[in-house]
Amino acid sequence: MDGHIPEELITKIIGSQDIVEVISRYISLKKSGQNYKGLCPFHSEKTPSFVVSPAKQLFHCFGCGTGGNVITFLMKQDNAGFSEVVRRLGNDAGITIEGVTKDNKREVLIYEVNKLAASFYYENLINAKEAESARNYLLKRGLDREIIKKFNVGYGISSWSSAYDFLKKKGFQEDSLLKTGLIIPRTKGTGYYDRFRERIMFPIYDIQKRIVGFGGRVLDNSTPKYLNSPETPVFIKGNLLYGLETAKDAIIETGYAIIVEGYMDVIAAHQAGITNVVGTLGTAFTPNHLRILQRLCKVVVLTFDSDTAGINAALRTLDVFIGSTVEAKVLLLPEGEDPDSFIRENGKANFVELVQKSIGIIDFAIGRIINRKTNGDGVLSKETKLRHAEDCLNIIRKVPNRIEQDYQLTRVSKDLKIEKDVLYAELKRKSKGEKAVQPEKIKKNNVRSQGIEEILLTLIIKDKSLRILAKENLDIKDFVNPVYQKIAAYVLISGKELNDLLHTEELDQDVRSEITRMALSDLQFELPEKNLFEYIKVLQRERLNQELKKIEQELYTAEIAGTFEKVRSLLIAKQGLLQRKKLLYEN
Ligand code: UTP
Ligand code: MN
Repeated sequence: MDGHIPEELITKIIGSQDIVEVISRYISLKKSGQNYKGLCPFHSEKTPSFVVSPAKQLFHCFGCGTGGNVITFLMKQDNAGFSEVVRRLGNDAGITIEGVTKDNKREVLIYEVNKLAASFYYENLINAKEAESARNYLLKRGLDREIIKKFNVGYGISSWSSAYDFLKKKGFQEDSLLKTGLIIPRTKGTGYYDRFRERIMFPIYDIQKRIVGFGGRVLDNSTPKYLNSPETPVFIKGNLLYGLETAKDAIIETGYAIIVEGYMDVIAAHQAGITNVVGTLGTAFTPNHLRILQRLCKVVVLTFDSDTAGINAALRTLDVFIGSTVEAKVLLLPEGEDPDSFIRENGKANFVELVQKSIGIIDFAIGRIINRKTNGDGVLSKETKLRHAEDCLNIIRKVPNRIEQDYQLTRVSKDLKIEKDVLYAELKRKSKGEKAVQPEKIKKNNVRSQGIEEILLTLIIKDKSLRILAKENLDIKDFVNPVYQKIAAYVLISGKELNDLLHTEELDQDVRSEITRMALSDLQFELPEKNLFEYIKVLQRERLNQELKKIEQELYTAEIAGTFEKVRSLLIAKQGLLQRKKLLYEN
């Protein structure tokens, strides 16, 4: 898939980047000895096990095992293809790469077409005579020129083919235009027509400022109110946050992000000067949204309408945050309001006050249960009380943080007037029945030599000068573990630099992960060369003993079967092995 980008060029591109600098754009790294450490962006964790080595230009997460070089990091981080990442990095470094691979070309085309289309729609909105009503509509909704420009808002005029004609004239073929979803094939006859007509256009960007799709709003009450681009490989609603490219810096700076639901909510907030606001494109908040945000901030404020639907939506979001390092807070707006209407009616200060008053999502959920309506008399019957306690415990049980658990138990105990010890006992009793999730156990058969295999490989990987020595004295088959065999083959035989090995498509992710884990391991070797020979010897002895065992077995079978020729040759082979064994154990 990586097409035909020459190896030297890739090496050069990797060399042009500083992995610490690149990764720092996404997560915060702290210096720790020779390396840098941070919270892994690829799994949820509380203590940093994500290590970046400036010396080796590699990263590895000792928690989830992900590791690699700057290219593999960006591929995973941005969910991008190999050639796309290489091209981008090359671009940054002023290194051009000829020949674009097919896959990548398709994505680049989508971005290009979308970008042109957005400027076409923008131009319409600002200048076209046919956009008069759209300009009036936005004026009525309070959007000024500056914010329209900032969010690149546009208008698709009342025409069946104005965008199509425009893009066609720019030289794009129908199949490229079709992939963006901007045009739709006619069902009757031939030809195409514009998807977005008489709609205000909101371009949707990814975090790299590329336009991945559009939302289009009608000017009246017709339906659908918003029409969106169809899902494409680059436009997946659950992976995108509207306004993120604009809000990113403010989110990092303030340490929190405010989540709203709609395009207009994001724009209204930004226009009011609240710039750490992003929107979910009308969908629920997903684990992917959290994954994106946890690299930027520690707190997420979710806004909801305080009607029943809003409150239920808030409660459903709780699970996304369980076990995450990001704290979720709930901001309730007066019934029937959304952030856009609230800010326009009440101003920035009142919204900021709501943000400050927002409460932790667990507090919120527990509070909802405790304050649930009684039978109207305000008195808690025993049954109600039991049900409330049960429901609270069901939430508290999911909270991994013991301190938070304790805090919530205290609260429930006080509010429901139940002894805390009793609640605690009940919590424990129920949890016991449920099976704890255990990290998958690693299969270990050849425990002894496997340990040495790993240490030996670590030594070779960390100390380049030992590789030739190892190559001369070691047989790949001395390794029992097939993954280690594979790594040894690459490291010793290919003669490639570690960094160049890491994006080879021939290596599976688990193999790469092992390599980076070893490269960044804390193991120290007092006498590397001496250690090398010791470890090699252990492996050789182990292998020899295995071979001897096998021959004994074969001898036994051959003797019983009476195949004396076989017995003879096996005895000779055994003799050879014993001789080697003598040598191996003597010195
Ligand atoms: P809302 O219906 O709350 O609209 O949908 P809104 O954002 O407040 O828009 P205005 O104020 O009426 O102009 C919230 C979000 O849900 C998505 C859009 O992303 C919208 O911004 N949505 C809504 C759709 O994708 N399609 C729809 O038909 C409606
Ligand atoms: Mn609205």
